[in-house]
Amino acid sequence: MPMPKIQYVDESEIKNKKVLLRVDFNVSMDSTSEIADDTRMQQSLPTIQHLLKNNNRLIIVSHLGRPEGRDPKYSLKVVAEKLQQYLPSYKITVVDDFLTELVVEKTEEGEAKKHIQTYPKDQAQNQILLLENIRYYAEEKQNDQAFARKLASLAQVYVNDAFGVSHRTDASVVGVPLYLPSYGGLLLKKEVGMIGKLLDDPEKPFVAIIGGAKIATKIALIGRLLELADYLLIGGGLANTFLAAQGYEVGKSFCEYERIEHARRLLFVAAQKNTAVILPSDVAVGDPKDTNNGSKIKRITDLTKEDQILDIGPESQAKYGALISKAKTIIWNGPVGYFENSQYRRGTDFIYFSITENSDATSVVGGGDTLAAISKKEYLEKISHVSTGGAAMLEFMEKGSLPGIEALALKT
Ligand code: 3PG
Repeated sequence: MPMPKIQYVDESEIKNKKVLLRVDFNVSMDSTSEIADDTRMQQSLPTIQHLLKNNNRLIIVSHLGRPEGRDPKYSLKVVAEKLQQYLPSYKITVVDDFLTELVVEKTEEGEAKKHIQTYPKDQAQNQILLLENIRYYAEEKQNDQAFARKLASLAQVYVNDAFGVSHRTDASVVGVPLYLPSYGGLLLKKEVGMIGKLLDDPEKPFVAIIGGAKIATKIALIGRLLELADYLLIGGGLANTFLAAQGYEVGKSFCEYERIEHARRLLFVAAQKNTAVILPSDVAVGDPKDTNNGSKIKRITDLTKEDQILDIGPESQAKYGALISKAKTIIWNGPVGYFENSQYRRGTDFIYFSITENSDATSVVGGGDTLAAISKKEYLEKISHVSTGGAAMLEFMEKGSLPGIEALALKT
């Protein structure tokens, strides 16, 4: 799927309009239901500010989590409070149910058919409407066209700044642009530009670090990276499947045995493409539930049936760090250890610091999980681009475009 030509908000005259802005405010929450990380919100502020500066009135649409029905746990009210702090001179109003509050159905004289005429009622110039979690409506995931039309009828222009959800074929992502002039937001532009550059013209050496648990979700990406990268450093649960494919004992570690053949094939392709796949040579083993006792470091050749791999070891860190320090292009997706237990987040932190230390490289770090896994985020600005997309970034890297981007191309 080649990247289609789309128009972005800063390349178009969008003034004095009602704009339906799709963002990805699917922020991570802590155990007290407070926002743990609002990077995604911050990254869409330039688009919001750009549109407001041009006297547009905004109706913002987002999802939060994967609710089944109207579950208050997934309400966007907490997001609205945060947005209010970022935009103090505007009034953020949460629209609980846009279908009953904003969409007005009228029967036009002479027409038996119901005609939907919609408008945001009395939206003041300095008022921003934030629709409640769009996934409260089953029609969103179904890309129900009647629903998409109702959403579209709230505005005159549609803007997609939700890179993180542009791999989904949801109504607010691919449905609405069928009915309105549609544009990409500034975050979408940045994501597409940064990740696209990395795919089209990466400076060498190119080092990719891939972690996380499951090989299944990353197979296509790994295949693509084997064509692009000089070094592919693997960590996390993913590495265990590759280690098992090479005949190592991985004991009780997470391992997708049904994918071993696939992992072997990928190693074979890597050899053909001359891409070095680097797996951990030592690991931290222990009990994932034990948060008090430290881990034990073992060489990969010394593992027993009782061992459970939970992080890369210090020798592997040094090896990965040395390659990262010489790279000119770096891409990182997925933690390399069981970061939920702080005993096993050292490897992930080490990767992060190694990337931030290399100021000569273009670095792209992606995935909500990857960011959540880093304990100290103070050097984040040293990374060229922190993608707001997890699966979206993987799919964009793999395919070169996304359904949400394709949908914009149809309309410009
Ligand atoms: C994400 O968190 O990756 C995006 O917001 C998409 O969420 P989803 O995986 O629930 O569609």
